[in-house]
Amino acid sequence: MGDDSDETSGESWFSSTAFKLLVLLCVLFLILKKLWPDFRRRYFAAFLSSFDEGNDAKKEEMKKDIFSTINTVTSHDPELRKQKAIKILEIGVGTGTNFAHYPDGTRLVVVDPNPHFKSYYDANRQKFPKIHSEEIILTTGEKMDMVKDNSVDVVVTTQVLCTVEDLTKVLQQILRVLAPGGRFYFFEHIAEFDTERHGTRRKIQEILTWTGIWPLLLDGCMLNRDMLTDIQKAGFSKVQAQRFYSPTDHIVFQLVKPSLKGVAEK
Ligand SMILES: C[S@@+](CC[C@H](N)C(=O)[O-])C[C@H]1O[C@@H](n2cnc3c(N)ncnc32)[C@H](O)[C@@H]1O
Repeated sequence: MGDDSDETSGESWFSSTAFKLLVLLCVLFLILKKLWPDFRRRYFAAFLSSFDEGNDAKKEEMKKDIFSTINTVTSHDPELRKQKAIKILEIGVGTGTNFAHYPDGTRLVVVDPNPHFKSYYDANRQKFPKIHSEEIILTTGEKMDMVKDNSVDVVVTTQVLCTVEDLTKVLQQILRVLAPGGRFYFFEHIAEFDTERHGTRRKIQEILTWTGIWPLLLDGCMLNRDMLTDIQKAGFSKVQAQRFYSPTDHIVFQLVKPSLKGVAEK
């Protein structure tokens, strides 16, 4: 008698709506878990490209200032030197927002782990036929071992070091690939540095980063980093850097106004 009733209740549980719902939820969860990283990257690439169209004049002016000395770089490569050209490696190139600031004739090698930037990057690079840009090497700054030692004249990162998983490793890779005397140009958003005047901004940056909300929505971006000390300690022979407020007025960018710009020399 007792055995019969156990079997009956077992059968009814496995055929119950609750059990079917549980299985359905598990299957949905597994599908989402598999698709989420790709969806997140696809959406992030589209999101960033939506800002390319409305070229922000103040931001472009600021970048012009950051790259103002790039024309004074002389290539380590005799062939390129003859052509008065240089080789640049841009890490985390995204849609390719820096072409306008590179000298004509530049040989451009780019690295980015997100394959969904390719179509936007290709569209942008076509607008700059005087820059010889290569296909995106699909990898991270940490793992770009295929770029040879002492092989580039300039490395560029703009709004990338906020996202990298291992900042020390990326800086070591930059030093490795730069030719002696080569330069690293950077422009990064950082944690609010004037906490007396902008304490609220700093608190919001911390909350959004520590809860994981901002990194989840923006491809791992951390609002509360400041890379200056890491750059200064990395082993460059000279570092010139400045913390400042990016001039953008767009409401979306208020949390990323505190910035760091500079040039480091190997
Ligand atoms: C906010 S976007 C900036 C894109 C571009 N540099 C710009 O200024 O518009 C950050 C970029 O860094 C890339 N990225 C993320 N993690 C990276 C890593 N570990 N190494 C290199 N690039 C990375 C992302 O795929 C994305 O293209």
